Amino acid sequence: MGRADALLFAKEGAKVAITDLQEDKIKDVAKEIEAAGGEAIGFKHNVTSEEDWIRVVKETVEKFGKIDILVNNAGISNATPFMDLTVENWEKTMSINVTSIFLGQKYVIPHMIEAGGGSIVNISSIAGLTGGSGTGPYTASKGAVRMLTKATAVDFARHNIRANSVHPGFIETPMTVDMFKDEKMHQWFQSQTPLPRLGKAEDIAKGVLFLASDESSYITGVELPIDGGYYAK
Ligand SMILES: NC(=O)c1ccc[n+]([C@@H]2O[C@H](COP(=O)([O-])OP(=O)(O)OC[C@H]3O[C@@H](n4cnc5c(N)ncnc54)[C@H](O)[C@@H]3O)[C@@H](O)[C@H]2O)c1
Repeated sequence: MGRADALLFAKEGAKVAITDLQEDKIKDVAKEIEAAGGEAIGFKHNVTSEEDWIRVVKETVEKFGKIDILVNNAGISNATPFMDLTVENWEKTMSINVTSIFLGQKYVIPHMIEAGGGSIVNISSIAGLTGGSGTGPYTASKGAVRMLTKATAVDFARHNIRANSVHPGFIETPMTVDMFKDEKMHQWFQSQTPLPRLGKAEDIAKGVLFLASDESSYITGVELPIDGGYYAK
């Protein structure tokens, strides 16, 4: 999803800083953007590391002059059965899915204030809207993303900073590829999704772009499900 977001944002004229743990993938996406005439830089970045956020934000501002959009997309799933959960396992999910967003906002918002405003898009999940079986820590983390986004929207509205969350349904990405390969599993996910296909990263990127752009200039503190109708049921 991060790749699809970066490509679409660059196509729309944004200068994009791409970050991930996987350096080779960052480089590939940056090359793809540059080959299409866009501008991008990539950073190896652990979103749970405060030092990494400080470095990435500093170098992005040095390169591009300002930051006016932040998309917090990195995340992991966790389907450990509840009674098998350990504190370590729980905290890993919270750290990558939630603490990362606290840190990203903490270090980017001052630059948005300086730039006169900005837009934050935090990637939650349908699991942040409704409960599911066997996904306790993931659901808790994505619910926290949803509510942190609302608190951020209220806190920083006076600085013309908007914050909204996106709630993908079942989307074909490396996170889900193994699950969706299994025909029975695929059929189950489809049976939960009213529209007659599972989602693609590009479906999510269009919603992220809308919330990041001035097209949504009076929208803040809301959640946007992009889920083929899953949450409408
Ligand atoms: N795929 C789905 O069906 C689905 C549904 C709902 C929500 N989401 C959410 O969408 C977001 C993107 O998921 P995806 O499906 O593209 O998954 P993905 O596994 O393809 O991508 C997640 C990326 O996050 C990176 N990452 C993991 N830990 C990191 C860390 N500590 N620091 C920096 N980067 C790190 C990974 O390297 C990976 O590139 C996640 O937040 C996920 O929870 C996905």
